[in-house]
Amino acid sequence: MKLFLDTASIDEIRQMWALGILDGVTTNPSLVAKEGRKFEDVIREICALGVPSVSAEVVATTVDAMVAEGRHLRQIHPSVYVKIPMIPAGLTATKILAGEGTRVNMTLVFSANQAILAAKVGAAYVSPFIGRLDDQGEDGMKLIADIVQIYRNYHVKTEVLVASVRHPIHVLDAAKLGADIATMPFAVMQKMALHPLTDIGLAKFLADWQKVPKG
Ligand code: G3P
Repeated sequence: MKLFLDTASIDEIRQMWALGILDGVTTNPSLVAKEGRKFEDVIREICALGVPSVSAEVVATTVDAMVAEGRHLRQIHPSVYVKIPMIPAGLTATKILAGEGTRVNMTLVFSANQAILAAKVGAAYVSPFIGRLDDQGEDGMKLIADIVQIYRNYHVKTEVLVASVRHPIHVLDAAKLGADIATMPFAVMQKMALHPLTDIGLAKFLADWQKVPKG
């Protein structure tokens, strides 16, 4: 499974990119707003690091405006994926953009039927938001299981990008279900690397090494 960071923080992306474990970055208007920087500057800087997949979201809501914004965003860098919201106009805009060769990430997906439609119009990624479903008492991971199964049934090429990830168990469950990508906050990716027994074990090995005769 590919691991993406869900952030617009260059510092966070740099750290994970340096570890060699990062496959991509997703941003959204809320994450960009937190950085207090110009949107296109942020996207350009992330792409310049060499990150191969960088999702940048349109803020228009009509077909023509979304298509125009999508065309503009994709020209920033070849690594840009254009994020389009799952609204009826977004389906039409995705069909047009995908037909021109733009890779679209259909976002704000909350049902399997929406995911079927995203695939139908040629989206490269579909982004179901599991944490927000969990927040309101629904089972976000059940949605991932449904989409993965449906896409497998019909050999759909659209990749399932698990979004709104809140903790490492979400990542683990998404991987067990065979999702293609999980995008997560920096803190969740950090936690994936940590286990107290690793630290305790290393401390013991290093302490014991001191008892080994040297020279
Ligand atoms: O980027 C889309 C999604 O991952 C947002 O997550 O935590 O705001 O629900 P969250």
